[in-house]
Amino acid sequence: MNPILSGAPWLVAHRSMLSADRPYKITLNGCDRVLWQDAEGEIAAIANVCPHLQAPLSEGWIDPQRGTITCPFHALEFDREGCLLQKDAPRGKPLLETLELIIVDDFIWTYGGFEPRLPIPELHQRIAGEYEFVGVSGNKSIQGDFLTSLLINYDYNHQNGTHRELFRVRENPISNYEENGYYTKLVQTVVCEKNTWLEILQNPAILMTPKTYDANMEYAFPSTTVFSTQMGAFEIAQVHILYPETSDRTRTFVLCFAKFNNPLLKLLLKNFFLKAVDTVVEQDSTAIEHSYPRSRPKIRLPKEEVMDYALGLYQNWPPES
Ligand code: FES
Ligand SMILES: [Fe+2]
Repeated sequence: MNPILSGAPWLVAHRSMLSADRPYKITLNGCDRVLWQDAEGEIAAIANVCPHLQAPLSEGWIDPQRGTITCPFHALEFDREGCLLQKDAPRGKPLLETLELIIVDDFIWTYGGFEPRLPIPELHQRIAGEYEFVGVSGNKSIQGDFLTSLLINYDYNHQNGTHRELFRVRENPISNYEENGYYTKLVQTVVCEKNTWLEILQNPAILMTPKTYDANMEYAFPSTTVFSTQMGAFEIAQVHILYPETSDRTRTFVLCFAKFNNPLLKLLLKNFFLKAVDTVVEQDSTAIEHSYPRSRPKIRLPKEEVMDYALGLYQNWPPES
């Protein structure tokens, strides 16, 4: 496939997504790689195709002490440089390509092997410094192209359809719009209708959102959309991540952060929070997966200028150097 936005920095995982005993597979711009973490916290990333008979290494197992991965088919063991390790034999040359990673805090970035065209944004570190990490939610592969998945994050009208039951938005005016190259921010004042008790019983996640709130939106094109707001007794920040898996599949996951003013509240609300985010991602994914291929719209809604801006960045890629 032709790589999508080659040279963009992609956030492919958060450290918490790499469990101590399981390899983690990523597909970025058509290439499959396997990531794992050793006992020292060093993260490895190599091609996922075993050079023996092409089994997926991600279905094998890791040895965190040795820092190696073993193929599930014939149990050959490889180190983080992609070299075969065999008993009584010297370590050979690398047989698997490695992928360069850039680890910033717990965020795992890569340029996917391309020449960098944009710096890694600072937004994520700022959020991690201000908030407490709660967990990852909505980690899924969407059957949809990257552009469609990207633009839904810049679309301030879709909550009236896609999320109508969850939020019942009455109006959501936009203010404080600021644009600085590939970074944008704005405030969306969301005013919701009241929910009935029946609706709350059917979907308790509704209780997570007050009826009027300021949603602070920040965008680090093309990988990230951050939604942060004050929710009564606590503040949340949802870091929505996207990267292109193939020309018609897109990976999404949300890194959830919050400021809780007491530990009991954290215990009570953590799962509610993660579940509510998961519901939002499911609804967006369904909207994308059920739509027909994109064509020129014959109708224009208000507040679509921000979508035009994102579309412009996409179509005019790469940035001038
Ligand atoms: S296919 Fe991997 S060890 Fe044989
Ligand atoms: Fe949405």
